[in-house]
Amino acid sequence: MSQEKSYHLETMAIHGAFKFEPTTRAEAVPIFQTVAYGFDNTEQAEKIFALQAEGHIYTRLSNPTTEVFEKRVAMLEGGVGALATASGQAAITLSILNIVNCGEEVVSSNSLYGGTFNLFNVTLPKFGIKVNMVNAQDPENFRRAITPKTRAIYADTIGNPGMEIIDIETIAKLAHENGIPLILDNTFATPYLCRPFDWGADIVVHSASKYFCGNGTSIGGIVIDSGNFDWTSGRFPSMTEPDPGYHNISYAHDVGKAAYITKLRAQMLRDLGVPLSPFNAFLYLLGLETLHLRVERQIDNALKVAKYLENHPAVDWVNYPSLPSNKFYNLAQKYLPRGAGAVFTFGIKGGRKAGAKFIDSVQLFSHLANLGEVRSLVVHPASTTHSQLSPEEQISTGVTPDMVRISLGIENIEDLLNDLEQALINSQK
Ligand SMILES: Cc1ncc(COP(=O)(O)O)c(C=O)c1O
Repeated sequence: MSQEKSYHLETMAIHGAFKFEPTTRAEAVPIFQTVAYGFDNTEQAEKIFALQAEGHIYTRLSNPTTEVFEKRVAMLEGGVGALATASGQAAITLSILNIVNCGEEVVSSNSLYGGTFNLFNVTLPKFGIKVNMVNAQDPENFRRAITPKTRAIYADTIGNPGMEIIDIETIAKLAHENGIPLILDNTFATPYLCRPFDWGADIVVHSASKYFCGNGTSIGGIVIDSGNFDWTSGRFPSMTEPDPGYHNISYAHDVGKAAYITKLRAQMLRDLGVPLSPFNAFLYLLGLETLHLRVERQIDNALKVAKYLENHPAVDWVNYPSLPSNKFYNLAQKYLPRGAGAVFTFGIKGGRKAGAKFIDSVQLFSHLANLGEVRSLVVHPASTTHSQLSPEEQISTGVTPDMVRISLGIENIEDLLNDLEQALINSQK
């Protein structure tokens, strides 16, 4: 597809980076279920190993099925390249380790997916990486937490479960004023609702297990590089100095715009070994073909359900940034004008006990810890996704005991509202 760059997201999601498999003319991307790839001769093998010629070596490093998924997502996000990983959690971990070393720091929003919170708070410190967490509602909090050791700012596009909409443009600007990149987890938004690179973010990560997959079948993640960040300021020696583990390559000087993502593959993926399985890449390619249709229906259902809950006598509060009453409404209109995702939170009158009764009463909604699926889901964050946080951390990150998190699927809205109605009546008994 020579005109790929000029196509809209809906078209690229179906056609991007692939047109018939060259040997068989298969129209679907084949699953290349292989560990290694044959070389033509020693000269060609040597060049591929030295990154002087293109070609696959071993599926831990790259795979033709996964490559189409990576290139397609890079197109959807508007980046120069992408790297798929075994999970969203692996994508987040690699995105940091690629540029932050022992003794260095990250400044992060404190409203994060619970797994990221734990990685930053408990595990990265064991590797000598300190993460300073701030309340993301005031962008200046990020600036105040930056020290000479800071190497990145990190946030979720839509906070979890506080639903804070990150002021991407302002935070990217202050990151760049301090010579550091902005890394965003764009899982909750998807590129259909928000493309963070258009607002100045430098690196985007996704849990592909959510909307890209859509049907709750496969774990995976992906890191996308905008190609816009200048790594040559001296703050990132691992990007500029020769890499003794890879033919003394200097990623920033020898590779250019795709330096970050090339290093991520050649060094991090090779050494830490967390590639996406080609089978999951195949499933995600199927998922991407309908991403825009699913998300459109999901945000439509989300807004209808949010409005219904807002007017329900058994509901204390609703936190969905697409509602005009929401404190993040203006930011949502700027960054997510089509809709602020299909996940939001609300509080049921009667606190934790009523919330538990509500969740135990739903029949159509599934009670499970995922989001972005075709199925509608509910979960109680304080006792599940964010249960590893202390009570104080839960309060500071907005996880209240009465909070229910809802993820809207693509079912019929009347059926969804009927199920919610009977569960809400039960919750008050
Ligand atoms: C926003 C967000 N990022 C990352 C992850 C981690 O992704 P995975 O479960 O694919 O490792 C999740 C999982 O729920 C998530 O919600």
